[in-house]
This record gives sequence, C-alpha cells and structure tokens, in this order.
Amino acid sequence: MTSTLPTVSGERIEELQQIAGEHLFMHAVQTNDWRGSLKIFEKGEGVWVEDIEGNRLLDAMGGLWYKAAGYGRREIADAMYQQLLAIDSPPAGSATVSQIELSAKVSELYPDHGARIFFVSGGSEAVETAVKMAKKHQALNGKAGAFKVISRRYSYHGGTAMSVSLGRSPAADPMGPEMPGAVHVGNWNSYRMPYEGDPVDVAVRCANEFETAIVHNDPDTVAAMIAEPVSAAAGIHVPPAEYWQRLREIADKYNVVLIADEVITGFGRTGEYFAPSNWGVQPDITTVAKALTSGYAPLGAAIATKRIADSFIGGPKETFRHLITFGGHPVAAAAALANLEVFEREDLVGNSRRMGNYLFDQLQRLYDHQIVGDVRGGLGLLAAVELVQDRDNKTPFPADAALAKMLPKLLYERKLVSFRAGDLISLCPPLSITSDEVDFIVSALDDTLTQLESDLGVS
Ligand SMILES: Cc1ncc(COP(=O)(O)O)c(C=O)c1O
Repeated sequence: MTSTLPTVSGERIEELQQIAGEHLFMHAVQTNDWRGSLKIFEKGEGVWVEDIEGNRLLDAMGGLWYKAAGYGRREIADAMYQQLLAIDSPPAGSATVSQIELSAKVSELYPDHGARIFFVSGGSEAVETAVKMAKKHQALNGKAGAFKVISRRYSYHGGTAMSVSLGRSPAADPMGPEMPGAVHVGNWNSYRMPYEGDPVDVAVRCANEFETAIVHNDPDTVAAMIAEPVSAAAGIHVPPAEYWQRLREIADKYNVVLIADEVITGFGRTGEYFAPSNWGVQPDITTVAKALTSGYAPLGAAIATKRIADSFIGGPKETFRHLITFGGHPVAAAAALANLEVFEREDLVGNSRRMGNYLFDQLQRLYDHQIVGDVRGGLGLLAAVELVQDRDNKTPFPADAALAKMLPKLLYERKLVSFRAGDLISLCPPLSITSDEVDFIVSALDDTLTQLESDLGVS
C-alpha cells in the first residue's frame, strides 16, 4: 500500500525525538529509557516495517500481539474510508450495517453460532464487560450474591483498575486494594512445573486449584473464573488439553461462568479461530480484541454464548446497563469485516497452524546455544525462547540482568522487532508469514544468541 504521507528526514527526525522526549507519555515504558532514542516507524508491508531512518525490519511480535493479517492491507484501509464517507457513527441507540454484519461474521466463526457479541474498544474493556456480564447473568439466575472472580497469578487481563486486579502481575503499579472478590490461584508453567509428575497430571492438579478456591470462597459467592488459553504474560506455556477440559468441568460443577480471555489468542493465533477449540472446550464468554482488526482500528468484544446472552432478553431488569460510547465503532467494525475477509481468502488460520509448526521445528536448533533453556510453542504462531544461566538446573538470569538492555539492541541490529526481550524472547509474527520469513526470524535469533553468548563470555 503506497502512502501519500511526506517522508520525514534529517533535522525533523531530531525535532520529533525531542518533542516526544518532552510530551509523549509512552505506555508502560521507562521515560528515561527512550528519550532521544525512541523508535519511530513510518511504513509497513506484510511482516515488514520500516523505521524513520529507513531500516527495514521483520516484526516478530506482530505489533503488540495483534498484526494478524500483516501490514499495509489496502482493502482494510478502503473499507474504513468507505464507512467514514457513508456514516462514521450512528445516532444514539442505533446501529450501522457494518456493526450488524460483524456480529453475524463473528458468531459464524465462533463455535456457538447462537452467540451474541458486545463490541467495545479493546481488550481491557472486553474483560470489564465479560466480568460485569457474568455477574449480572448470575444475579438474574438465582446467584445474586455472586461477585467473586477467580483468576491466575502472572496472567494479564488488562490495564484498567478492575482488570489489573485479575492479573496480579508483579510488574503492575501498586494501586491499593484490588477489586473486592478478586481471588488468585497458580498459573500453568510447562517448564518449571509446580508439582512433580506427569505433565497431564500436574496440569489437572493446577486446574484443580480453581476448584479449591471456589470451595474455600463459598461457591454461592463465586461469579466467574477467567484464564487465557495460552498466557503470553505468564510466558507462553501451552497447557495439555486436560487443563482447559478440567476448567470446564469445574465451572459446570459449581455453576461458575467460564471466561476465556482470548485477547491475544483469538482469531487464529493458535491455529484455530478460538484456542479452546484445540481442546474441544466451549467457554461461556470469550474476550477478543487485537487480531479482530489486526490492529487497523481499536476494537474488542465480549462474545457471549447463547445460554449467557439469553439471560439479558426481557424487560428493564434484564437489560445489560453497560455502555461505552465508542465501543464497536462502525469504522473499526468495517476494518474487522475486511480483515476477516482476508483471513478467509488467504486461510490465515491454516497458515498459523502450518507456519507455527514450522517455526517450532526450526527453533529447536537454538538448543545448540548453552543459554537456551526452553523453546516453547507448537500451537500456532505463538512461541517463546527462554534463556537461562544454567540449563541443567533451569537457573534463571538474575532479575537485574543486563539481558533486557542487550537483547533488544542485538535483535534490532539483526533486523528483528521484539518486545521486552530479556530472558524471554516472545514470538508472535503476522499469521500471513511465509516459510522464508520464518527462516529469517530463526537465523536472526541464532546470530543474536551467538553474539550474546560471546558478549556474556559463555562458551
Ligand atoms: C490476555 C489479555 N487480556 C487483556 C488485554 C488488554 O487489552 P488492551 O491492551 O487492548 O486493553 C491484553 C493486552 O495485551 C491481553 O494480553
């Protein structure tokens, strides 16, 4: 897609750096770190992006886990433009054709075709919506005192005040008391399993922590349980099928709403449109965002199965009194429709499966490096490489390791965009990636690790 934006160069680049240093409040980035060295990007095509200085790099993180269809799709830009020309947003309490058609498309792709879709602006709002929906569903169905939500430590469910209390990330800012009723259990970790034994048995034991928490907290007070099918925040540990199957059983046994937070995994990332389909599991509510528009516009959704959604049919008492002014913006809906057309035309979900397997196979050669402790993935185009000090004992690098300073620079020099690369290198490239481009990623990682080992004095 050719842009008509003027090219920026020379003095203007320096000026922009200075302005950004003074006025741009970056999201979750240390302000001192990027002052004067902020990466500014101007162009994108497929898996490739070009920074303002003309460096062409492969975006191995697909933006921030969202660039599923790749950069530079003219048909998505055109669809957004056409929607803007027709009507950018409808009068209050009404809908546009794009919003209605998108609800039909998402429910067609979702395993429960009777689903009803509540559109919002992003992942955090999708989680807020799902939790409120679950609580009201419970209240309307005889569990009026149910307000607790069980979630996993080290997960990430968003940056808003409620969703952040579900994640319990050590990296989150202290905000005082969490949402009343936020109850945390352990996460799944395939590399450092919390118990000894066969991985399937351990995974079921981990899932059983939800049951223990529900019982200890009084099942009548528990509204919902939430987990990501594969948690990127917790390090991309793919669970055995039995983990989510057990979550489903527990939710059914105690009449608790099972929310799958698919903000990263939704729309093809794991080789299925929706990740629990890999394990034959149907959650009650699914939250999605990122890949729904591949990042061309901000959009998220809470997808309610028919069973949940039907609770809200009726009079004033049943009405879901939840309103977000720009939730499901028609221009974003038009972008999503065009994006999902690309998915179907180019079989991006099949490509995620095929290229995900290929990437995982190719990554195995990184074990030639002493500092590679674990290569994880194998379920679509989501993978991680964990670096350790001592492979035999799985000893992590110290928390203050220089790795987080060294690695992003080394990767950038080898034309790879990463995100927060340190002892964990996460990979989430566009689903449109080719095998040559996968080879490029793996070679760049291989070279980077050779250089890193040499810099660290590891033989
Ligand atoms: C699993 C999960 N849930 C929720 C969110 C929040 O989404 P957003 O940043 O769009 O609000 C994220 C963001 O990365 C996420 O990974």
